[in-house]
Amino acid sequence: MNKTRQIDLGTPASGRAETVTIDIDGLPATVKAGSTILRAARESGVDIPKLCSTDNLKPFGSCRLCLVEVDGRKGYPASCTTPVEDGMKIRTQTDALAKIRRNVMELYISDHPLDCLTCSANGDCELQDMAGAVGLRDVRYGFDGENHLDAGVDTTNPYFQFDASKCIVCSRCVRACDEVQGTFALTIEGRGFKSKVSAGMGEDFLDSECVSCGACVQACPTATLMEKSIVDHGQPERSVVTTCAYCGVGCSFQAEMKGDQVVRMTPYKDGQANHGHSCVKGRFAWGYASHRDRVMKPMIREDTNDPWQEVSWEEAIGHAAKRFKEIQDQHGRKSIGGITSSRCTNEEVFVVQKLVRAAFGNNNVDTCARVCHSPTGYGLKTTLGTSAGTQPFDSVMDADVIMVIGANPTVAHPVFASQMKRRLREGARLIVVDPREIGLVRSPHIEAAHHLPLSPGTNVPVINALAHVIVKEGLVDDDYVRERCDLDSFESWKSMILKQENSPEEVAKTSGVDAETLRAAARLYGSAENGAIYYGLGVTEHSQGSTMVMGMANLAMVTGNIGRSGVGVNPLRGQNNVQGSCDMGSFPHELAGYRPVADDKVRNRFENHWGVTIDPEPGFRIPNMFDAACAGEFKGMYIQGEDLAQSDPNTHHVESALSNMECIVVQDLFLNETAKFAHVFLPGTSFLEKDGTFINAERRINRVRPVMQAQQGKDEWLITQELAQAMGYPMNYEDAAQIMDEIAELTPTFNNVSFTFLDEVGSVQWPCNDAAPMGTPIMHIDQFVRGKGLFVETEYVPTEERTNRKFPLLLTTGRILSQYNVGAQTRRTANNVWYGEDLLEVHPHDAETRGIRDGELVALASRKGDITLRAKITTRVKPGVVYTTFHNPETGANVVTTEYSDWATNCPEYKVTAVQIAPASHRSGWQEEFAARAEQQGKIVETN
Ligand code: SF4
Ligand code: SF4
Ligand code: SF4
Ligand code: FES
Repeated sequence: MNKTRQIDLGTPASGRAETVTIDIDGLPATVKAGSTILRAARESGVDIPKLCSTDNLKPFGSCRLCLVEVDGRKGYPASCTTPVEDGMKIRTQTDALAKIRRNVMELYISDHPLDCLTCSANGDCELQDMAGAVGLRDVRYGFDGENHLDAGVDTTNPYFQFDASKCIVCSRCVRACDEVQGTFALTIEGRGFKSKVSAGMGEDFLDSECVSCGACVQACPTATLMEKSIVDHGQPERSVVTTCAYCGVGCSFQAEMKGDQVVRMTPYKDGQANHGHSCVKGRFAWGYASHRDRVMKPMIREDTNDPWQEVSWEEAIGHAAKRFKEIQDQHGRKSIGGITSSRCTNEEVFVVQKLVRAAFGNNNVDTCARVCHSPTGYGLKTTLGTSAGTQPFDSVMDADVIMVIGANPTVAHPVFASQMKRRLREGARLIVVDPREIGLVRSPHIEAAHHLPLSPGTNVPVINALAHVIVKEGLVDDDYVRERCDLDSFESWKSMILKQENSPEEVAKTSGVDAETLRAAARLYGSAENGAIYYGLGVTEHSQGSTMVMGMANLAMVTGNIGRSGVGVNPLRGQNNVQGSCDMGSFPHELAGYRPVADDKVRNRFENHWGVTIDPEPGFRIPNMFDAACAGEFKGMYIQGEDLAQSDPNTHHVESALSNMECIVVQDLFLNETAKFAHVFLPGTSFLEKDGTFINAERRINRVRPVMQAQQGKDEWLITQELAQAMGYPMNYEDAAQIMDEIAELTPTFNNVSFTFLDEVGSVQWPCNDAAPMGTPIMHIDQFVRGKGLFVETEYVPTEERTNRKFPLLLTTGRILSQYNVGAQTRRTANNVWYGEDLLEVHPHDAETRGIRDGELVALASRKGDITLRAKITTRVKPGVVYTTFHNPETGANVVTTEYSDWATNCPEYKVTAVQIAPASHRSGWQEEFAARAEQQGKIVETN
């Protein structure tokens, strides 16, 4: 019997609160009204046999194995489709039932290869379990008749296989794909005996619409759909519950182990963010953790042209500390700094910012949120009082109108997208504000009510136009505004928003969205019972990113859409722990919990605890560090798990800043692009080795548990601690739990958090303290965190990045499902089969006028630089707009992006770059230099 299988209660839980009392096999049971008999029985400890049902899918009633007898009813109702009634008397085991069940199983088994002993599902097969449960002893029909036993195996998907000979046509896979994932990739073709599962019109899995989420594999009760890792390595022996290390959804997984090897990642049903679902990255793309490129030994070198020299941990850390101290002696305390990583745990991040503040003696610490959601922090804190989203993901199930702005959830936050799609199929209406026709605009059983295909850079006028219509047409929630918001700010904002320049007609001219669509979208959102806004980097990565965040908060407040389930303003945060890295005090002006470093009281609290004096002056942001490095004033950096050279804009500028520094210490799994400029390399750990916590986009603090020892020999928090010690600051944690205890003590919103508490409750959303001992799923319920909600005027100031005759097109950037960010992890997995290189999406009209053909090389040039990549001709982008991803370092997408950034936070304007494109015959100069450097940098002098 499989030791890691999660409990299956047969059918979904009833949503009702009231209970009924029933009698099952002579024993009384009190269960939720609306439960099926199957679920009620399983909750009461009676396992009625079943095959076609499972507790995350609607009951289907096809296998007839779960039949029961009910007093007063004729025949044998299927327990998976029959709801309980008060006083019902049910028998689950009678001679008649046993006979029927055996007959059913006999029919299944007569068309099933009896290779149980050599089958990869042996020990984890529900068909096998049911044969045992019903007491099947022989099969009268023999195996000579017509059967499916020689149906082939589809092995095209890199992660799972489909062995049609083992299929019992229970349709669990089809329903999982429809109901859970929302992709509708599978069908049952044919009828009766000829019916079979098919991935599209005679296609194999790889060529079909399948997005490889694995929900069907998880749902399959037989070995028909089976992970290749299980086929290769056999069934797991134990499991550890942990959290995905990719995106900000924060899915919980059971890491299933055989010895010290992961053989499967199964989404955890009790995970509050994902409820047992996952995407291709979390479920399958974990092989990078043991990829041969992973660096396992510390390394140093004097000059970045030298080969790397493997050394001991002591020598590497000692060397880094010595160089940092020398630099500070020569160039001053503020000449070095550190970058925390949103891929690392809160505990690992906390010790890095503490190292900078306590051992480096300055506030030169920043994080990758600088280049993604820093405007979210600024905008939501200013208007509402807290730097995070307002809702749990489950809140979307109560939304009536969902507005998605500058986000592409089906590729970047796939598990949340599946939940959102479920709500949309139930009838919620959708507004999409995006320059591209993202997948959500039109997908099976979903069509956006309105798509606003605005020109890149015109978010602010569009949000202003929506607010203009809402105010002008009397859709303001006056009571809400009067009771909950700052009225002076409301009046000033109202005068601004009613200006003619914010009318749909005027905004149509700048944004390219016609006035009627703007008006209709405003009416739909403004008259919704519950209107919810979800947004992404298409909002923040602009010169007016912070303005736009405040514009959305204004819109939600004026319509009364904050403070209950189904509403809110919700950033879909990118990296697994970007919320946490911000919460932990990674910004140069804030200590943990977003408290200003300039505030004496706050600083004193940390000073007393840490036994040091903290600089009251905010430190450098990442762009300031680069500018200071170019000016020769900033000389050293400790970079934890970030690849600044690939991910930050204007690559030429970043590269000259990095080249100008005297000591760069990179701590990472791989020799990334930044490591090419580094002098010390400290190998990091993968999420499978970490002990700590991640915080997802809903402020949920999830445990990350190690399933194996640190493979390179040292936990990452310990590396930082030893560096602090070598710099002369005594840091002495014994384990990660102690670090969380200190975070909780020093951070009011985390006061009640500890590993022990999280292990007890599963996960919790901050604030979690005496006022909210079980956390805070929904923020701003009775009043805003800042007291009264503040309306902020959002005048449109166009970006300085303009198109002209030389650069007539606008480039915008984004992601793809199978790859992740700079691709350091996903490029080292079989995910490359879906997307091996960055492509440039071009509208057919723009392609034709330039003689560009699909799949051919194009030169992409901006005022900052030029690269080449292959063209993909598509109407997803409108004329005048081109689009690419930034997953491959050799593409160098950031060679062309500019230094323009958000006025409040310096978040780069990745989403708007004026460019020109033309057919190309060879790689760009930068790309040729990149290839040469890659070869030279791969040289390592090994110790034995
Ligand atoms: S892997 Fe996911 S998308 Fe593909 S067929 Fe299965 S459920 Fe559908
Ligand atoms: S592939 Fe599995 S889940 Fe799908 S119908 Fe066949 S046995 Fe059922
Ligand atoms: S949705 Fe995000 S957190 Fe969930 S499995 Fe996919 S990448 Fe991981
Ligand atoms: S489990 Fe009820 S009919 Fe299949």
